[in-house]
Amino acid sequence: MTYKIKTLNAISKVGLNRLPETDFEIGNDLENPDALLLRSASLHGVEIPASVLAVARAGAGTNNIPIAEYSARGIPVFNTPGANANAVKELVVAALFLAARNIIPAASFAHRLEGDAASMDKAVESGKKAFVGFELPGRTLGVIGLGAIGVEVANAAVGLGMKVLGYDPGVTVEHAWKLSSFVEHVTNLDSLLKRADIVTVHVPLVDGTRGLISADKLALMRKSSVLINFSRGPIVDQEAVVAALEAGALRGYVCDFPTPELNKHEHVVTLPHLGASTNEAEENCAYMAAEELRHYLEAGTIKNS
Ligand code: MLT
Repeated sequence: MTYKIKTLNAISKVGLNRLPETDFEIGNDLENPDALLLRSASLHGVEIPASVLAVARAGAGTNNIPIAEYSARGIPVFNTPGANANAVKELVVAALFLAARNIIPAASFAHRLEGDAASMDKAVESGKKAFVGFELPGRTLGVIGLGAIGVEVANAAVGLGMKVLGYDPGVTVEHAWKLSSFVEHVTNLDSLLKRADIVTVHVPLVDGTRGLISADKLALMRKSSVLINFSRGPIVDQEAVVAALEAGALRGYVCDFPTPELNKHEHVVTLPHLGASTNEAEENCAYMAAEELRHYLEAGTIKNS
């Protein structure tokens, strides 16, 4: 029997080629597919094709899939936890340095410089004063969410000499044992927010986390602190962030979810959802997601990934 897996986004061919030799047909224009394989395409409001037996997201978050509707039809939804954790961690580490050394505003200042050698020297002198940064060792990082990505971020920050606070009321043994013993596990989100110089958010977008970083929570953070969000935009109350930045109650916001409002703000750095965008992560996610589907369609059981 040949199973048909319909892709709704570009999925790494290198990853798909890692599947064992099978009769699977994988493509974006298949009729009556047995399974759907997607990245960020939204399935909300999209009729479930009658032929579909399973869905897999090549990524960690599943907020683009109406899971309850699929479950009600007995259709499992798979994701690829951990497959892109290193990629996200690396970008968060980059964000720590971006924030600490004012890299984006300083680079944009330097990019605009022009004139003769004397006026360049003068401008460089003023830039040196304007963009004085801070170093990471000894600073406190608060990590909200200790799943595969949060744990990697926390451990990397320990390696950078930071003091790391980790918060996750639902942390599982699977991830907890991987956490460096130098990470202080806090049970109170407010205390993490009050103590951290930089806060990074790594929770899935579900009803309970929408707006988690609200105006009240932002008010607890230090004026000099920076918020990093590579999870999902709506976990942070965007209007409250802009208000906090404008009131001088927050130093900066780095996130992976550009909006016109955020992009206007000089203390905001946005990226076009790049957290998982490395060749390696795309390959890992494609392979893991397709392998979950293959196993389910062939064996009829859910593979423990
Ligand atoms: C994820 O949820 O892991 C990312 O959104 C994956 C992606 O960028 O496609």
